[in-house]
Amino acid sequence: MAQDLFEAAKAAQSRAHAPYSNFFVGAAIRDENGDIHAGCNIENAAYPSGWCAEPSAISHMIVAGGRKVQELLVIGNSDDPCMPCGLCRQRLLEFIDDTASVTVHLAHPERGIIKTLTFADLYPHVFGAEQLHS
Ligand code: THU
Repeated sequence: MAQDLFEAAKAAQSRAHAPYSNFFVGAAIRDENGDIHAGCNIENAAYPSGWCAEPSAISHMIVAGGRKVQELLVIGNSDDPCMPCGLCRQRLLEFIDDTASVTVHLAHPERGIIKTLTFADLYPHVFGAEQLHS
C-alpha cells in the first residue's frame, strides 16, 4: 500500500537540488483525503537558506488543500535510513493529530522500504499546540 508513496518520493528525490551535500532526499505524504504530496530538498549556495524534502512535501499538501499527515515516506541514498531531522519532525507534527496512528516509512531507491515506525516512535515527547494552552 505504501508503494504509491515510494514511487512519488522516488520521483521527487530524482529532482532534488542538492549540489552542495550531494545528499538527495525525497518525501511523500498521504493526507486525510488519501491524496499524495511529494517534495525534495532544495539547497542554496548560502547554505542555511536551503531546506529539506519534508517541508517541500508539506507545502504541496497545504496548497492542494490537505491538512493532516496520515502516512509519510522519506527516501535517501544512504546505507542507513534517512531519518527526518529534528526540525522536520516538528514541522510535520503541526499537521498530525495522533502521532501513534501515523506510519513513517524510510526507504532507499533500490532497496525499497527499509524501516517502518510510527511518528510517536520518531518523536515521542512533543511540543505541539496543546502545550501552548495547557
Ligand atoms: N535533508 C532532508 O531533506 N531531510 C531530512 O530530514 C534530513 C536532511 C537534506 C537537507 C540537506 O539538503 C541534505 O539532506 C543534507 O543534510
